[in-house]
Formats: sequence, C-alpha cells, structure tokens
Amino acid sequence: MSKTVLVSGGAGFIGSHVTVELSQAGYDVIIADNMSNCDETNYNGVCAILGKKLPFIKMDFCDQAATDKLFSENKIDAVIHFAAFKAVGESVAEPIKYYKNNLDSFLNILQAAKDHGTHVLFSSSATVYGEPDVAPVTEQSPRKSATSPYGNTKQMCEDFLRDCVAAYGMHGIALRYFNPIGAHPSALIGELPRGIPNNLVPFITQTAIGKRECLNIFGNDYPTPDGTCLRDYIDIVDLAKAHVCAVNRMVEGRMDEPYEIFNIGTGRPLSVLELVNAFQQVNGVKLNYRFAPRREGDTIAVWADPSLAERKLGWKATRTVEETLAAAWAWEKHLAGK
Ligand code: UFG
Repeated sequence: MSKTVLVSGGAGFIGSHVTVELSQAGYDVIIADNMSNCDETNYNGVCAILGKKLPFIKMDFCDQAATDKLFSENKIDAVIHFAAFKAVGESVAEPIKYYKNNLDSFLNILQAAKDHGTHVLFSSSATVYGEPDVAPVTEQSPRKSATSPYGNTKQMCEDFLRDCVAAYGMHGIALRYFNPIGAHPSALIGELPRGIPNNLVPFITQTAIGKRECLNIFGNDYPTPDGTCLRDYIDIVDLAKAHVCAVNRMVEGRMDEPYEIFNIGTGRPLSVLELVNAFQQVNGVKLNYRFAPRREGDTIAVWADPSLAERKLGWKATRTVEETLAAAWAWEKHLAGK
C-alpha cells in the first residue's frame, strides 16, 4: 500500500518540486498551503506535470485545530514542512511576524506528528552555519549565532525537532539546503518571487527578460578568486529528489539515529560572476550588470560537503549548472509567454 506524505507549503517553489518527485516515486501526496506567498501557478503546474489533480487543502498551520483535524482525518506517514516566511530583510524589520508564523506552525505540526505517529522532515538552511571558519561545511561544523530572525527560526525549528524526537520517540530529518535554483525541465513550475527578487537567479532571469534594468552584483572586493561571493547552487529538481530519499529512509525504518541532519548541496563553490557568465553563455543572452557595494549580512563563502547525504541517503546532485540555468531561463520565458 502506498504511503501518504503531507507537504506543508506545497504550492511554493521548493514544495511544488518536491511534490512532483514524491508523487512520481509512488507516494500519495497531500498539499496544504495558505497561499500567503504564492498563487495557483505552481499547483496547476504540478497537476499538469503529473497528469492528475492532487489533493489540495487551503489552510494555515498556525491554526492548531485545523492542523490536528488534517492529521486525524488522514493517515499521514510523513510530513515535510515548508510553510514559512523566508525573506531575510523582512524578518529583521518584522521579527514578531516571523517568530509567530514560523515557530507556531512548526510546533503545531510537531504536536500533530507526535499524536499521530508521523515522521517529520524539516526544511532547514545553510544559513545555520553563518560565515563558516572552514569551507566546505559538514553537518558537524558549528552553527553560528543567527544574523536574522529568519535564520534564528531555522535554528530554533531544528532544535524543536531534535528535542521532540528525543522526548517522544519520534523520527525526524532536517535537510540543510544551500542555494536552491532553477526550475522543473517542463517549465511548468518554478520560482515566483513577489515584487523585487532578493535572490540572485530570479533577479538574473528578470533582468534578462527585461523586467529589471540591471543586475547589481553585490561586492567585488571579497577575498575570493574573482572578488565576488562563493555559494553552492543546487538544482531544484536534485534538491527535491533528496526529499524522496529522506522520506524513504524514515518510512522504511533505515535511520541510524532518530534525528538526522544532512547537507543538501553540490560540493562545488561558484562565484556570483561565474554564475552570471554561465547564464549568459548557456542561454546566449547578454546580461546588463554592474558591480555594486556589498550587501549587508552576506556571507563570503559557503559551500557544502554533501558526502554524508551520498553515503546515507544515496543522494547526489546530478544536474550541471548549465542545465539548471537553462531551466531557470525557460521558466522565465514561459512566464512571459515567450
Ligand atoms: N546577489 C547579487 N545580486 C543580487 C542578489 C544576490 O550579487 O541581486 C549575490 C549575493 O550577494 C550573494 C549571492 O548572490 O553573494 C547569492 O545571493 P542569494 O540572495 O541568491 O542567496 P543567499 O546566499 O544570500 O541566500 C541564501 C538562501 C536564503 C537564506 C540566506 C541566508 O537562498 O534562503 O542564504 O543567508 F536566507
């Protein structure tokens, strides 16, 4: 009998790609989202890719009664939690909004998971490493104190999961994502930033399509080979597949420890300038960019040691950055109707 996975925030960028991979791997998927930061584009795209309508529940996980009702009415084997606010700058300006939403929703999910014997996968972030002393970072690298309420909620939610697993005999996995980019090869789902994008790749594609005048590259005087920051850009479909491996590990009872953490990255650092050049080259477009002052709060160089995920989850990034940037561009053109 197939197992059921609940995806909170399943209509968003990462959630929609994970939903597709889970469904294609044979899981029954329930999508739940309050649609506070997205529209129906990705949900419709998911259904088009899969050729079927997936169950969708419009709800807010900050509503404890609704959360418990959902778990009571469905036999949910695992829950993956994406439903959270994610804008670093906004979290600095509105910490209460971030703490209320991101912490309450996860606590309600943990309570329901405890009550109903559900495995929990938490979407964490490389942000927990801050500016690492040594790169690449392993899961053993120290967490640095968070520089934003957003980052703080990622650390706190990891700790909530660890403590609930220890206290209640639950099983949980935290995946620490590096920089997820790209779009589904079908160009039917992708990133849909509201307003001016904060992240690099949507800003690049919007500049290339003419929605933005010029890309600012924040800082070219960093102590890196070309002076721009180094990151580990992970393809969104590769990232989504890591979730299938992690859910398999939980539901098949193959965990070594009841709470496990995995880095999800490529292990290859790329500079901002290298990424910009790769985008221009693979897509044959000229990008209008200029060097601008450093952006406050940016770390200089962060990339993953993903070997634990390879050993334990049997997962490894396979897509090239060229494939990923071609998919991101195809998605932007799809949105523009081109
Ligand atoms: N960058 C630019 N110009 C832009 C946008 C970004 O030069 O217009 C640069 C940044 O300075 C950085 C790199 O591109 O060097 C990547 O920036 P992103 O904003 O795409 O990603 P970050 O590494 O800053 O963000 C990641 C995750 C976030 C998380 C954050 C916390 O994507 O979800 O780390 O540090 F919150």
